Amino acid sequence: MKYTLLNSTTTAKATDCLVIGVWTKGKLTAPAGALDDALAGELRRVVATGDISGKVGDTLYVHPSAGKAKRVLLVGCGEESALEARSYRKAVNAAIKALFKSNAKDAVMTLAELPIKDRDGAWALSMLVQECESSTYQYDQTKSKKMAAYALKSVACSTPKGANRSAMNEALKAGLAIGNGMNTAKELGNLPGNVCTPKYLASTATKLAAKHKTLTTKILNEKQMQKLGMGSLLSVSAGSKEEAKLIVIEYKGGKATSKPYVLVGKGITFDTGGISLKPGGAMDEMKFDMCGAASVLGTMTAVAQMGLKINVVAVIAAAENMPSSTATKPGDVVTSMSGQTIEILNTDAEGRLVLCDALTYVERFKPKTVIDIATLTGAAVATFGDQTSALLSPNQAFADELLGISQDTLDLAWQLPLWDEYQSLLESNFADIANIGGPRAGTITAACFLQRFTKKYTWAHLDIAGTAWLSGAQKGATGRPVPLLVEYLRRQKA
Ligand code: BES
Ligand code: MN
Ligand code: ZN
Repeated sequence: MKYTLLNSTTTAKATDCLVIGVWTKGKLTAPAGALDDALAGELRRVVATGDISGKVGDTLYVHPSAGKAKRVLLVGCGEESALEARSYRKAVNAAIKALFKSNAKDAVMTLAELPIKDRDGAWALSMLVQECESSTYQYDQTKSKKMAAYALKSVACSTPKGANRSAMNEALKAGLAIGNGMNTAKELGNLPGNVCTPKYLASTATKLAAKHKTLTTKILNEKQMQKLGMGSLLSVSAGSKEEAKLIVIEYKGGKATSKPYVLVGKGITFDTGGISLKPGGAMDEMKFDMCGAASVLGTMTAVAQMGLKINVVAVIAAAENMPSSTATKPGDVVTSMSGQTIEILNTDAEGRLVLCDALTYVERFKPKTVIDIATLTGAAVATFGDQTSALLSPNQAFADELLGISQDTLDLAWQLPLWDEYQSLLESNFADIANIGGPRAGTITAACFLQRFTKKYTWAHLDIAGTAWLSGAQKGATGRPVPLLVEYLRRQKA
């Protein structure tokens, strides 16, 4: 989709569809009022019929008899004084849904000029473009009948009066990059496990790097990981014919000497549980167990597209977790790259086993910060459902920064404690540490495990088991937490 900032007044531009908001009780928003004047009160007469209540997300098409817009899409925006970030996003999504149903090939959107209580115009514009672009996503890669593309091809956005033009341009670009990054993450997440293998993730990274001068990749195979002593990571791929890959992507947008921000993604391309085999119900959804890796790739896509002036390193620990005669067994003890030995009491707690070696590997970059992103625990789904990612960090200032950004982007995350009191749950009689902490506090003990490998830098962990994909009729990857990660990186100074 093509996005532009509108130069002219909204009523002066010829368009297939003009999208404007209406408040409750039939009150017209400013752009609606201007249009109504140009249409000699036609809009007011439509609203007076009561066919649109003005409730957030209500929509109604009007085909005006005059003016430059073939259609007008009225969108309910609620009480004028009550429009806030969440209701704005809801109104935007309702508008997009209605727009995509029509045959309009271009549209003028005026929602970003509405006053939002807790946000500015740049945020409104960026969110509009992000939601629009991510809504264009349709999965058809493994269907024999391809989806027809939406008719809508270009969107011109109006901006609040007096808005800073370059700030608006930047917001537009960021929204587009985030939406695009989310779509990259969704596609990788949705691909089946027999297509999206560790090798596929590696070649996706290589192809992405070929598109941007600022990106380089290095792919480590099992032999190279063996040399580095990654006995923990390799214990996960031991039962699979698919070779594990450690995918390293470097983005250089800052000075050569500037320390990078590091992202580490869990890339289990299918999680059967291994010898600790999972029950059969909904096991297909374990193809989504690489959504952490997908979000990292989506974020790098967006970072490169925006040309951020910082350095970023992404590391993906990619493996398939399978049972077989060569698979790791409960009770096996392996040695991690850090030298710490691990008793594997449950082969289904494999995410932490691949992540711990990746987290040791990234020490070499002397990172400013490290965030790992993983579909790590069913307990995170039980705790937070599909709305909220779990955030854990021993560094409260860092946690607060990420929590703040999650509120700003509405890519919600909430903190769980990472207190030393939980560490004893991981004690083992036969190794330095066990890979499970028992049935309780599962998200916390998983993070406690990772914490033992992250002592040398500022670190936070995002458990996205609940938020990375939806189940049921809506089954599919969400592209989260790309908005949170991209916004975090956007705010960093070299
Ligand atoms: N990939 C799963 C976590 C998961 C489960 C995400 C269900 C989303 C939905 C992870 O590898 C796993 O199996 N975790 C186990 C850990 C347990 C054995 C300590 C879990 O959460 O049950
Ligand atoms: Mn598992
Ligand atoms: Zn898993």
